[in-house]
Amino acid sequence: MILLGIESTAHTASVGIVDDSTRVLSIASDMYRPPKGGIHPREAANHHVEVLPGLVRSALEKAGIGPRDVDAVAFAQGPGLGPCLRAGATVARTLSLLWERPLVPVNHCVAHVEIARALSGLDDPILLYASGGNTQVIAFGSGRYRVLGETLDIGIGNFLDKLWIALGGTFPGGPALEEEAKRGHELLSLPYSVHGMDVAFSGILTAALALNARGVARADLAYSVEATAYSMLTEVTERALAHRRRNQVVLGGGVACNLRLQGMVRSMAEGRAGSSFAPPRSLCVDNGAMIAWTGVLALRSGMSCPVESSAVDPRQRTDKVAIPWRRD
Ligand code: ATP
Ligand code: FE2
Repeated sequence: MILLGIESTAHTASVGIVDDSTRVLSIASDMYRPPKGGIHPREAANHHVEVLPGLVRSALEKAGIGPRDVDAVAFAQGPGLGPCLRAGATVARTLSLLWERPLVPVNHCVAHVEIARALSGLDDPILLYASGGNTQVIAFGSGRYRVLGETLDIGIGNFLDKLWIALGGTFPGGPALEEEAKRGHELLSLPYSVHGMDVAFSGILTAALALNARGVARADLAYSVEATAYSMLTEVTERALAHRRRNQVVLGGGVACNLRLQGMVRSMAEGRAGSSFAPPRSLCVDNGAMIAWTGVLALRSGMSCPVESSAVDPRQRTDKVAIPWRRD
């Protein structure tokens, strides 16, 4: 079985093709980069509309297959920005009708989790999903991915992006801050916001901007922001392991590319005689292959939908969607 998946929830338009043994046949992506400031949903959607047809063609070419080889078309139904989601869904519906193939809606967060879990080879890990708009600690239970803890305000990636842009940089901020942090060494004091299993980042953002205004070295600020924010994520992940009596962690989402975060989670898990896993960068950040792979799982469970009832859902939560391909 071969699926084509379309991702368009925010900045990234991406088409991925995978087979039913999690082999990634191709990924073709193009990221909308706002000239300055944050994302403008309509402009990002216009970008996606322009690039998606070409991305479909190049994904098919790279995979060395034609439309006839594609068994179904999956798309990210939510969560995300309405105009961006609609751009991807429209292309997916068109292909589904044109190629006469089933249309499979996929939750974007579940897709980050499922591609990471499949590559890890771990059956039932605790999942740390850290991206731009989302920050969640997740475990599977009774037919759903349960959110054990999450951000109470902004996603960690949005926090890193906002900070970097305020410091004069451009989107995306996470990778740039990671580079900057390598030159830092002094640990500045920042608010550490863990509330049970939840975290919050807006207080650190305010404090970091105040430190910047006082003229602290940018490298020290980046170093301290990473130390504080990633410690918070590591702590809530450890709490989830302890409560669920597990010792394996799988990371997913764009911020999971960060080697410092990966290292902190790894040493925490190893300290509990366990292990951790993060996918390669191309499959951590938003990509069509994770949508296609989750489409494979969904389709195998008989989940597809007619075009008429394939509306996007900008607020679709991780724990709202059924996961019939997993058992307790
Ligand atoms: P979601 O809808 O899942 O929230 P998203 O639109 O934020 O997805 P992703 O590609 O999953 O997209 O994540 C993008 C985020 O990852 C950006 O905020 C970016 O700064 C961050 N990021 C990417 N690489 C790194 C890195 N090396 N270190 C820290 N953050 C990173
Ligand atoms: Fe994402």
